[in-house]
Amino acid sequence: MTPDLPAPLPRAPRTRQVDPADASAFDAAIAEGAEIIRAGGLVAFPTETVYGLGANALDAAAVARIYRAKGRPAFNPIIVHIADASALRLVAREVPPMAEALARAFWPGPLTLVLPRAPHLPDAVSAGLDAVGVRVPAHPVARALIERSGVPIAAPSANPYSRVSPTTAAHVIAQLGDAVDLVLDGGACRVGIESTVVDVTGPRPILLRPGGVSRDEVERVVGPVERPAVVATGDAPRPAPGMVDRHYAPQAQLVGFRAWQRAEVWGRIAAMVGSGRRVGVVAFNVAGSPATCPIAMPVDPEGYARALYATLHTLDREGCTVAFVEVLPTGGEWEAILDRLRRAGLDRSADG
Ligand code: TXA
Ligand code: MG
Repeated sequence: MTPDLPAPLPRAPRTRQVDPADASAFDAAIAEGAEIIRAGGLVAFPTETVYGLGANALDAAAVARIYRAKGRPAFNPIIVHIADASALRLVAREVPPMAEALARAFWPGPLTLVLPRAPHLPDAVSAGLDAVGVRVPAHPVARALIERSGVPIAAPSANPYSRVSPTTAAHVIAQLGDAVDLVLDGGACRVGIESTVVDVTGPRPILLRPGGVSRDEVERVVGPVERPAVVATGDAPRPAPGMVDRHYAPQAQLVGFRAWQRAEVWGRIAAMVGSGRRVGVVAFNVAGSPATCPIAMPVDPEGYARALYATLHTLDREGCTVAFVEVLPTGGEWEAILDRLRRAGLDRSADG
């Protein structure tokens, strides 16, 4: 028998730096990316939320390549990115007044609207549903790429299915390697967690995924939003697509703790580390922690969101099998972050 070999590292994809301050390099990289998109290839690019894995949304074969590269199940629809709201008619059959109000308030920005889908969009984009998720990203690289390509760009987050979303080009390269034809490296993402997804196909708006725009901000524009009743587990049919309970997950088991338990938790960590385990701690205050990988988190929700996925990637890179996560403050600004930590596997002891 052959011994188990370590998994080969993914081969590095072609990468280009894109800094708007260096106009000629920026233009050349965008032109190269747009050429690949038009030819049916895959380009990873920064948005203000996370990096996306983009393909021509009008090309069914290109969209199929996204699903293959991510190992993503076919029931999970993909968000279509457009350059501005005037392109909505290219992808949506109908734009309800509620959608227009939300688009005016938050685009460009971290909000995805689920709308009745235009018939000429490939089925694969919307996983066979009659609705399509659409957003206008705010990042200059994303916008330039869409404009230069001249087509709407279908792009999920640029990570393998159910793994942590990338907020830097290095995260994309480490996770997807040369399954991507080109990576546009525009530095770290400003928001750090995915867009808020609001379904506006019915009489009342439904919050399918909390994200970069808070529920309060959405409600100020369209009144009360509903949450879907159930979150599906495993392979059970989903009440709404994308409602998978575990997602955005690092390898480490995440265990919640409260500030007053710090001394006790530090003791448990010391014992684990003593027996050779690699242990993380993710907390507002990590002073004196015996963890192999202590990570101090910002105390403001914007800063915390920006740092969150890099933190989860670090736990993976450091080989942590368990990480202790300090409970978050309560309040609407923390809703999307708590949602991501739960989907990353955080146990209920940390519920605020
Ligand atoms: O911030 C973001 O939204 C990032 C960047 C790249 O734009 N994209 C992203 O895509 O997070 P993805 O594929 O990882 O998550 C898309 C989620 C789906 O899981 C689903 O919840 C929702 O958006 N979605 C997309 N299209 C939908 C549709 N037609 N109906 C219902 N939900 C949809
Ligand atoms: Mg994703």
